[in-house]
Amino acid sequence: MSIEEEIKKRRTFGIISHPDAGKTTLTEKLLLFGGAINEAGAVKSNKIKKTAASDFMEIERQRGISVSTSVLAFNFKDKKINILDTPGHKDFAEDTYRTLTAVDSVIVVIDVAKGVEEQTEKLVEVCRMRQIPIIVFINKLDREGKDAFDLLDEVEKKLGLTITPLSFPIGMGLNFKGIYNIWKKNIKIYQNDQKQIIGNKVTFNSLNDPELESIIGKKDIQNLKEELELIEGVYSSFDKNLYLDGDLHPIFFGSALNNYGVEDLLECFIEIAPCPLPKQSEKRIVEPKEEKFTGFIFKIHANMDPNHRNRLAFVKIVSGKFKRNTSYFHVRNNKNLKFSAPNTFFAEKKEIIEVSYPGDIVGLHDSGNFKIGDTLTSGENLNFTGIPSFSPEHFRYINNTNPMKAKQLEKGINQLMDEGIAQLFILNLNGRKIIGTVGALQFDVIQYRLLHEYGAQCEYESINIYKACWIDGDKESSSYDDFKRKKQKFLASDKKGNLVYLSDSEFTLKMAQQNYSDLRFYFTSEF
Ligand code: G4P
Repeated sequence: MSIEEEIKKRRTFGIISHPDAGKTTLTEKLLLFGGAINEAGAVKSNKIKKTAASDFMEIERQRGISVSTSVLAFNFKDKKINILDTPGHKDFAEDTYRTLTAVDSVIVVIDVAKGVEEQTEKLVEVCRMRQIPIIVFINKLDREGKDAFDLLDEVEKKLGLTITPLSFPIGMGLNFKGIYNIWKKNIKIYQNDQKQIIGNKVTFNSLNDPELESIIGKKDIQNLKEELELIEGVYSSFDKNLYLDGDLHPIFFGSALNNYGVEDLLECFIEIAPCPLPKQSEKRIVEPKEEKFTGFIFKIHANMDPNHRNRLAFVKIVSGKFKRNTSYFHVRNNKNLKFSAPNTFFAEKKEIIEVSYPGDIVGLHDSGNFKIGDTLTSGENLNFTGIPSFSPEHFRYINNTNPMKAKQLEKGINQLMDEGIAQLFILNLNGRKIIGTVGALQFDVIQYRLLHEYGAQCEYESINIYKACWIDGDKESSSYDDFKRKKQKFLASDKKGNLVYLSDSEFTLKMAQQNYSDLRFYFTSEF
């Protein structure tokens, strides 16, 4: 098969949702359709929602499970599908943001009863910023929930999406009778004893079929016809280019648990979702079909075994073929690396691969060379962009409590920061180290891992920081100078040496933005 054909075959996407909306269940049902697993319950949820924040065993268990579910690949029809897992827990949101740098599209799962929830809003905002094509799946139609039209309104308003329903439910909860597939113009009857059964659903191609009327009832068919007319009148019809540009978002309804509506979603997804896309680098746009390999690291997973500190770095292949035992150029370190046992992922299994193509994710064993955002190439000196750090929300000083282990602490902190667990800022005034995280849970994870993996002990000290932002502007200007002098106490450097302003309140940040309007305040590290 030519590289173009391999690229066309691939769909690499992420499923995002607020915890409990049904992401794990939907993932599992997609794998069942792909024949990649045989039974429900095989995909373990990677969530830690039901436990206390300080439950270290649970944190460790989470880390273990999320290796096996980081990438779930399966074949469906003639397509190869790579699902990239995203943690639902809000404290791991940055992990999810970064995973979104490696997907070509996303499916957003929404609970019909709960509607658009907070975590969904945040994640969709990141997708919108990046113009990632989005399909929305409204789940749990077997339960009572919000009115379908109200939900569509909510999705438009809260998520800021222009939508086009491609399916529509007939009733819900106890009255849930089926779903009309606007895309295929057919209707599948819902029977609530269909759990786990693939295929075999009674399908009608016309709403005027007398048999359909005898099953669903005249009134419901009439209602459906009116609702479909309304949909046609109110919403734009589907346009693939608008969807691919991130300007129009198809909506599907279903019940993942009952395996209902999932097939409609998958059938449409493989037809419309984008195959691996070109990616911007500092120098130029890299096209997937280019002969030479390029890829970037979007996730690093530390090994569970504290005695062997090797890690698995996840590379998304952007262009060309990746081959085992071939020397590749690690751009940041300016050195060549060879990988004798690169892993690929199929369903839940990790296997050694000989060759991989754009869109695929390869796991590379790493003894500490890689950082999130690193680029690998066949020799070209280029760096991919678009893998930023996000402004953390929680901050603490980190202090060494065992002077004998200062080196271990330093190494541990550096490696954990490379993994992207948190960000390190060094205060310009006195060189004190400040850890910034997206979620409070990370502080416990860091302390625990420093002790168990590096033998280093630390304690935290509170510090009053509202937000960290990266500062840019004319370094020769008097205003830049003035800012640096007046805000001296609040300035730090990130790992790359960039200037970061740690404002102590929303008010002071606003004032600074006003008083120094010629400086630029950024809330992601890449600008
Ligand atoms: P998440 O990964 O988004 O956090 O959600 P997950 O799939 O784990 O689903 C959360 C809960 O919602 C699970 O129940 C799951 O069985 C249920 N669920 C998922 N899809 C549907 C659906 O279509 N209909 C109904 N009625 N329920 C659905 P749980 O009791 O929390 O977990 P479990 O004990 O069933 O695993």
